Amino acid sequence: MHPITRAVGGLTLAGVAGVTYGVIIERNWFALRSLSVPVLPAGARPIRVLQVSDLHLVPRQERKIAWVRRLADLDPDFVVNSGDNFAHLEAAPAILRAFEPLLERPGAFVMGSNDYWAPGLKNPAAYLTRDYAKAPKDRLPLPVADLVSGFVAAGWSDLNNARTMVEWGPDRLPVELVGVDDPHIQRDRYAEVAGPSSSDAALTVGLTHAPYQRVLDAMTADGAELVIAGHTHGGQLAVPVFGALVTNCDLDRRRAKGLSRWWPGAGGPGQPTAGSGDEPDDAAYLHVSAGLGTSPFAPMRFACRPEATLLTLIPRPS
Ligand SMILES: [Fe+2]
Repeated sequence: MHPITRAVGGLTLAGVAGVTYGVIIERNWFALRSLSVPVLPAGARPIRVLQVSDLHLVPRQERKIAWVRRLADLDPDFVVNSGDNFAHLEAAPAILRAFEPLLERPGAFVMGSNDYWAPGLKNPAAYLTRDYAKAPKDRLPLPVADLVSGFVAAGWSDLNNARTMVEWGPDRLPVELVGVDDPHIQRDRYAEVAGPSSSDAALTVGLTHAPYQRVLDAMTADGAELVIAGHTHGGQLAVPVFGALVTNCDLDRRRAKGLSRWWPGAGGPGQPTAGSGDEPDDAAYLHVSAGLGTSPFAPMRFACRPEATLLTLIPRPS
């Protein structure tokens, strides 16, 4: 066989193997990631916050439903749902079934674009462009109200353009939560809930589905010490070692998933890069979940396992 023919054949086989792995194995290889975040006052006992994001649930995904239900075994102090729960018009009952044991815990949620609009047929390669989830042309509205009422009936806080005080953890620490509706489809109205952190709060936490810089800047300028987001899928198709290729928003790809630091203007020119160690000491923490799902029309993950995250909040170093 000619060497070029052999090389092309080898590459084709590797491509088919990679796609098969991404569609069949990694997409369903759910992981729980655990992280410590030093944002509590000195002497406070740890608080365990479970983040579930980007479920993109189709009702037949029983394995995913069972996996999410088992997360309640972690006994979290608080549950955060950062949106994009739907991947099917009739998924609301299945989503509520997946969250049922977690709804017995205190929690809060914001919505993502995929909670409002059913997925439409798209070119999977378009995931690697910034236009992927834009504009719901020909997309059908989802029964998001069913989900909201299910979450609210269980006592979870609706943080779509809202601010509230809650108590977290064994010390019943007063925590201020501020959230926005999805900036990816311009539903964020941070100005309506803007303002400095309450003097009664031991901690202020921001929540947004998509981590757009305008939201991160505004929340951290107002004093949020931790901002929690989803949406990026960690790039969904990543390159080993290099990481995410895209974030599907204006966040840099180094912050595509996991814990990083953010401060007002952090995304501007001349600012220290994420993970460089040169970030300001008082910078807020940003956690971006890679989420648990995929678009049904780009149903694969590569070098970016689907995940939920247990964030253990601990005291700041003195
Ligand atoms: Fe998503």
